Amino acid sequence: MTFVSLSRTRRSHPRAVILGTGSELPAQVVTNAALEKLVDTSDEWITTRTGIKERRILEEGKGNADMAYRASVRALKDAGLEAKDVEAIIMGTVTPDYPFPSSACVLEDMLGVRKAFSFDVNAACCGFLNALAIADSFIRTGRIRTALVVGSDALSRLLNWKDRGTCILFGDGAGAVVLGASHDGAHGILSTRLRTDGSYVKTLYVPAGGSLKPASLESVKRNEHTIAMNGKEVFKVAVRSMEEISREALDEAEVKVDEVSLVIPHQANLRIITALAGRLKVPMTKVMVNVDRYGNTSAASVPVALDEARREGRIRPGDIVLLNAFGAGFAWGAAVIRF
Ligand code: ACO
Repeated sequence: MTFVSLSRTRRSHPRAVILGTGSELPAQVVTNAALEKLVDTSDEWITTRTGIKERRILEEGKGNADMAYRASVRALKDAGLEAKDVEAIIMGTVTPDYPFPSSACVLEDMLGVRKAFSFDVNAACCGFLNALAIADSFIRTGRIRTALVVGSDALSRLLNWKDRGTCILFGDGAGAVVLGASHDGAHGILSTRLRTDGSYVKTLYVPAGGSLKPASLESVKRNEHTIAMNGKEVFKVAVRSMEEISREALDEAEVKVDEVSLVIPHQANLRIITALAGRLKVPMTKVMVNVDRYGNTSAASVPVALDEARREGRIRPGDIVLLNAFGAGFAWGAAVIRF
């Protein structure tokens, strides 16, 4: 009897492992050439400053959960699991279908998940990493054994299509990861690190539409329900912060940067990604990049890139992968995973 309970105690700290991934990008492609017709910009300017060539935009009449649903179905299939196996849905998003309830609850119903608890996490472009870290904690403590972790955003809904400083940067998409519990000790999420600095709230935010300034005819006229950003400041802090937190996550995992097989950074801007790779001293051959095709998909960016990397065969069993992200808040984070 004593032996059984000791053994249970030893086995009560599983590690979260990635069982499956999936993603969804809307069919509608908006090229830089198309944006040249909307604002005073050029393919050349957008490509040189951001590396973005095109982005996907969610069709009218669809909501965030429609994309999250497709990504989740693919992730569950990849994991060989069914909706009934899911014990929690944690979704990073800043563009839920409704102000409330959460899009995680909308998704839960679409998937037919029952007997789970589901909620959204608002950490902007870092939302997926926050959701992943929370799910990892629930699994490590033995509270749940299976979680669906989603990053899904339709930032096109928050864009001022007359502001060339922001409308060229973003796209819509969803990525999902199914986490399970493993006792093998060798694989899974080795570390997660999260950070915020609220003194930057107004450096990147949507001024109206919340409780402080509810949507009104005036706020809509002034476009205050769309993204307002100081791009230069975001750029500077993003590179520095993602480097720092990546190093912290690697230290915690006791992994050296040379041991990382692939870095999957938040896809905001190719210049941010190359600057980060340079500071981490990781060659670009070991860095996942798809910002050229999708732009910045906010919370979806890391899980979409992770799913693509797996499907392209860029992650093999035993590989160590470093994820990192940075976004409004400011909020940033990193995770180290052994596959
Ligand atoms: N097309 C043409 N010209 C433009 C455009 C455009 N789309 N946008 C701005 N410009 C002009 C500006 O008006 C300015 O003109 P001026 O010199 O006559 O005043 C000139 O280009 C230079 O503008 P800057 O803002 O200094 O350009 P910068 O090199 O900083 O690039 C950018 C702007 C791309 C926004 C960059 O600062 C950036 O990527 N920042 C990070 C922002 C970001 O990624 N935010 C996403 C959310 S947070 C995250 O995900 C990390």
